[in-house]
Amino acid sequence: MGKGFYISKTLGIVLTVVGVAAAATIIALSVVYSQEKSKNVPKPTDGAGTTAQVSTTPSPHASTTPTPSNEPWDKYRLPDTLEPEYYNVTLWPRLQMDEHGMYIFTGESGVAFRCVKETDLILIHSNKLNFTMQEGHHAQLTGMDGTTAPTINSTWLQEKTQYLVIQLNGKLQTGKSYWLYMEFRGELSDDLGGFYRSEYYENGEKKVVATTQMQPTDARKAFPCFDEPAMKAIFHLTLIHPRGTVALANGMEIGKLAILPETVNINVDGHEVSRTRFEPTEKMSTYLLAFVVSEFTFIRTPPSDEVLIRIWARKEAIAAGQGEYALSKTLPILKFFEKYYNSPYPLKKSDQIALPDFSAGAMENWGLITYRETALLYDRNMSSNGDKEWVATVISHELAHMWFGNLVTMRWWNDLWLNEGFATYVSYLGVNDVEPDWTIKDLMVLNEVHKVFAVDALASSHPLSSPEDEIMRPEQINELFDSITYSKGAAVLRMLSEFLSEPVFVKGLSAYLKQFAYSNTVYTDLWKHLQDAVDTTPGLQIPSSVTEIMNRWILQMGFPVVTINTASGQISQKHFLLDPDSPVDRPSQYNYVWFVPIKWMKNGMDQGQHWLLEETAQNDPMKTNDWVLANLNVSGYYRVNYDEGNWQRLLTQLSTDHTMIPVINRAQIIDDAFNLARAKIVSTTLALSTTKYLSEEKDYMPWESAIDNLGYFFLMFDRTEVYGAMQNYLKGKVSPLFEHFKDITSNWTNIPTSHTEQYNQENAISLACSTGLKECTDLTTRWYREWMQNPDSNPINSNLKSTVYCNAIAAGGVEEWDFGWMMFKNSTIAAEADKLMYGLSCTKVPWLLNRYLDYTLDPTKIRKQDATFAIVYIAGNVVGQPLAWDFIRANWDYIFSDYGGGSLSFGRLITGVTKRFSTEFELKQLQQFKEENAQVGFGSATMAVEQAIETTKANIKWVNENKEEVMKWLISETA
Ligand SMILES: *[C@@H]1O[C@H](CO)[C@@H](O)[C@H](O)[C@H]1NC(C)=O
Ligand SMILES: *[C@@H]1O[C@H](CO)[C@@H](O)[C@H](O)[C@H]1NC(C)=O
Ligand SMILES: *[C@@H]1O[C@H](CO)[C@@H](O)[C@H](O)[C@H]1NC(C)=O
Ligand SMILES: [Zn+2]
Repeated sequence: MGKGFYISKTLGIVLTVVGVAAAATIIALSVVYSQEKSKNVPKPTDGAGTTAQVSTTPSPHASTTPTPSNEPWDKYRLPDTLEPEYYNVTLWPRLQMDEHGMYIFTGESGVAFRCVKETDLILIHSNKLNFTMQEGHHAQLTGMDGTTAPTINSTWLQEKTQYLVIQLNGKLQTGKSYWLYMEFRGELSDDLGGFYRSEYYENGEKKVVATTQMQPTDARKAFPCFDEPAMKAIFHLTLIHPRGTVALANGMEIGKLAILPETVNINVDGHEVSRTRFEPTEKMSTYLLAFVVSEFTFIRTPPSDEVLIRIWARKEAIAAGQGEYALSKTLPILKFFEKYYNSPYPLKKSDQIALPDFSAGAMENWGLITYRETALLYDRNMSSNGDKEWVATVISHELAHMWFGNLVTMRWWNDLWLNEGFATYVSYLGVNDVEPDWTIKDLMVLNEVHKVFAVDALASSHPLSSPEDEIMRPEQINELFDSITYSKGAAVLRMLSEFLSEPVFVKGLSAYLKQFAYSNTVYTDLWKHLQDAVDTTPGLQIPSSVTEIMNRWILQMGFPVVTINTASGQISQKHFLLDPDSPVDRPSQYNYVWFVPIKWMKNGMDQGQHWLLEETAQNDPMKTNDWVLANLNVSGYYRVNYDEGNWQRLLTQLSTDHTMIPVINRAQIIDDAFNLARAKIVSTTLALSTTKYLSEEKDYMPWESAIDNLGYFFLMFDRTEVYGAMQNYLKGKVSPLFEHFKDITSNWTNIPTSHTEQYNQENAISLACSTGLKECTDLTTRWYREWMQNPDSNPINSNLKSTVYCNAIAAGGVEEWDFGWMMFKNSTIAAEADKLMYGLSCTKVPWLLNRYLDYTLDPTKIRKQDATFAIVYIAGNVVGQPLAWDFIRANWDYIFSDYGGGSLSFGRLITGVTKRFSTEFELKQLQQFKEENAQVGFGSATMAVEQAIETTKANIKWVNENKEEVMKWLISETA
């Protein structure tokens, strides 16, 4: 899935920023804390609460499932007896409510399958579908190519495991093919999973879109199918749809090339409708299917021999030119990947469509990629540079999947990390190719590596690769869509590519794609091809096999901290745990020792690469009085610690000439020091000392790293006396940066040139305002006022909108809030709406926050896809935090049942709302919450609840141990 976890770069950026104005009256700074951008994709967990289904033949099996059962239909995995060959599916979504107030779709589908092992049982996935066959059974079975099919004895729906079960009176014969035909109806509900509906208004008129999200296990909600990734087949799709609407699917519409569907108008049961048929797909997995019926329009690439690219969206959005940026970048990125993978894109077209309601960021359906509006649409005047980066990154991620994921697919979901980690890694390469000025490959360190370190340093983390039999139920599959899978996956693949060198990596990769095209793999298949590439590259030396090196990174959770002692020349490694006292109850066959590639420098001179495998080793060149810096460009997935003497030499270098240290490593030094301090490996004052040189720093990456790490201090201390001292200290550090940007933008009238400067300008303003720098709060308040006076002309630069809205609304009252809300409701640009939605969470007025919380569960006010985000933003506000927590607890039942089906990520919700927890009282509340809701359950947030408890305990300890020391240090530094 495409970047399900973070919804827009704007918000991703904002959230890593310490971002709120301190209103004079409240000495409280609200930290809008990094919303784990790499978090669970909000996906249905509908395995549990299924609605009743009509069984045309009541069956003794249909009621409750006996525990424990060995019947095949009680197992979550399909038996290995049947293999689908092709499907013929016709679906007819109704875009108008029926007489029962429901939106429905009807369908008929047939599947040709081959029997590969004799059996008298057919299991095919089906969830929430009502079967409507005229006679006796749920389905009809016929033999193909002259084979006679056995007759059906009985059929029933097994709800828990989501099967249609067909018991036969005789055996299917090995090697023979059969045709299974079914008619059914389903609800086109607004749950963002399977075949669902999205709504929007255009010229005051409500429009309904029928669209899909199949991954991971919801194709079975659209039509009965063998819904596992290895069950690849060819799909012939047909859509029946209202006249005047456009139907799209994976394949090209039949009948014409590259023009609007020349659909056939027909009459079905007295309905005047259109029918669009699509060219058969390639052999593919069910989770990659997509079909959309809408009144959207499109722009396209000019006719040529090349792949046709179309960008689809609401008419208003296309008319406003919001699809232009995506159109200009899609084909170049696609071509980049064809070259990179050395493999042509096999389809004739790639449609990209922006949907008003969409749970993930985007989805890589083969030939018809679906996006959130913020992930595809870009408005020249209204969107920020972060929005632009987000669009480019998501497109690149999805296109990367066309090969890695779509052409070659993991055999089962336990290897999801390979799909998502890969797409995440190479998405940076694709963006770098089309936007070479952005230095996007460097930013990957902040966006992926540093972000996922935070999660992977917990004892409750998990290895990248899971055993196949631990991932069975849909909830378990959903839970895998987390930051480990995406970001750690990307980080270790980047490390692998770095130590093999890109040409070798790519050579292995393209051989792998060639061998497994249109089929399925496990990760060892990739290792094998990379090993072949290594073996056939003269002169390339790695200390062991690809398997030996890499398995340690993917089968063990966590990562090491490498310690270099420049006094003795000794280097050692140790599993890095944020809380060194937390018990690691997951044993590792490798005893938490890794094969670590260490690129390093001495006094600014590159020293090449050293490999570390033993827990401790001796490296004489590292015994030195010069400063040593390891993990150059953070190409390795580990942290680095040094002896005290070397730390001091690095600090001295930073404060004398920081440019001697590469910019990525300046960010690394800060991030490592703060996290080593959290783990009690170095002192907290050493960590704070890495920020002393910031008054000289102008670059984005170190600042972003510092702000991210100080975010934790804000969270822990913004309700205590330490807060004032922090504000003072940081005001001194950020004021020069604020002045710098005021300067280079001619008093805020220009936009800084480079992409990262633009980001850092936002940092300068949000941090300056949060430290209470008056010039800053005056500035943001003035801009917002000007806008209120003239709503048709927003004077605020798009890159700064998030922070300006937030600070102005925080400093203001109901008038500012209501204006923001009005602009939010009226916005036709999703990126703009997101920024306002965030800004509204910044108010300090409790009743406004409570009212906003109520709005989050009203889909007419806040789209379901956005509800989690709004609640988490409110919890990021120091005033909103307790309100959001109360709100979640009071409404858990409802949130779980009504939003559990695909729009809320419970993991993100729990993590976000408990982030500030650092007292015994809060820990008790959290534990009580866990007990009280054991009945309702936590679905895909189960792990997040455990992690929240672990994190709270660690926070309590940390505050006790550090509060005084931090206070003293801050006071001495500002004295
Ligand atoms: C399935 O659809 C294809 C394409 O329309 C058609 O050629 C084929 O005969 C159909 N198969 C069956 C069994 O109906
Ligand atoms: C048909 O089903 C009934 C009850 O479900 C069972 O008793 C009978 O043995 C079945 N017949 C065959 C041929 O499988
Ligand atoms: C399916 O059947 C159930 C039970 O009769 C009913 O509640 C539900 O509305 C039906 N769904 C559709 C889409 O017809
Ligand atoms: Zn993806």
